[in-house]
Amino acid sequence: MKNLLSLEALTRADMESILSRIAAFKRNRKTHPRPLSGQTWALIFSKSSTRTRVSFEVGLRELGAEVIFLSSAEIQLGRGEPVRDTAQVLGRMVHGAVIRTFAQADVEAFARFSGIPTINALTDDEHPCQILTDIFTFEELSGVPIKGRRVTFVGDAACNVPASWIFAAARLGFELRLAAPAAYQPARSLLERAGGIQGPADPGAPAEASGWYFPSGGRVVCTADLNWAATDSDLLYTDVWVSMGKEAEAAQRVQDLSGYQINAALVSRARQGALVMHCLPAYRGKEIDEATLEAHSSTIFTQAENRLHTQKAIVDWMIS
Ligand code: CP
Ligand code: NVA
Repeated sequence: MKNLLSLEALTRADMESILSRIAAFKRNRKTHPRPLSGQTWALIFSKSSTRTRVSFEVGLRELGAEVIFLSSAEIQLGRGEPVRDTAQVLGRMVHGAVIRTFAQADVEAFARFSGIPTINALTDDEHPCQILTDIFTFEELSGVPIKGRRVTFVGDAACNVPASWIFAAARLGFELRLAAPAAYQPARSLLERAGGIQGPADPGAPAEASGWYFPSGGRVVCTADLNWAATDSDLLYTDVWVSMGKEAEAAQRVQDLSGYQINAALVSRARQGALVMHCLPAYRGKEIDEATLEAHSSTIFTQAENRLHTQKAIVDWMIS
């Protein structure tokens, strides 16, 4: 039995195994096997969700399972029952769990104490299902492997989505440029945990840029200079400036991150035909402007749809 608790915990072979299954689930949506027939899976969510909730509810049903959605506010977890007790109870009743919450440690504790296949549907630390989807979508729409390509993330580079991108770059061997003010760049300890060795950034990189190198050939460059970061990029990517749980910092974040926006001027620095992606929800006029979102909406909504197909592939990998 496997879990999907983070990209940090996945090997390159694991990621490739999941990625290699997605296209068939997308192609054969009506006819693929229903390996979860007779099972019941629980979705336990402590944060809001549109895409993740619906794609898991629909996807698990299409794999044959019954699904119970449990908002943490409506179960005893929300009144302080420990995760380990909740996990031991649910582990005796349901066959798998999908959890969206704050602390990564809670998802890990749930997996340990429940003994059932457990999926991280977003924590403060990672969003693994999203980034596996994004890589599949990049390869599907561009027609080339992500290995050796340049991905530029613009915005809050210290949140869950860029963290999962870092582990993906480390394992799959592509370049990830993170464009953010210094206070919104990832912790050095995270880059070290990903297996990075710090070295000089590219020749021509801004003086403040820092480069991290991985045995896969992947690298991560952190810089405050979004124009440099976007240059010749194959994929421009952004996420909200104010992640769930950070609402109290909203005004400060909007002030600090203002300017770290994907717009036509930034897109013009990327490679001709570069993709623009957003995990959604999007705040037009903040991390991406209206015209750019609309110009790339076909990519962005294909990316959203691909959550459904990717998560089926994740479950298939977990139970195989
Ligand atoms: N991208 C994503 O996870 O969206 P939701 O918060 O709507 O699930
Ligand atoms: N970083 C965002 C991702 C939303 C899908 C958040 O955690 O709110």
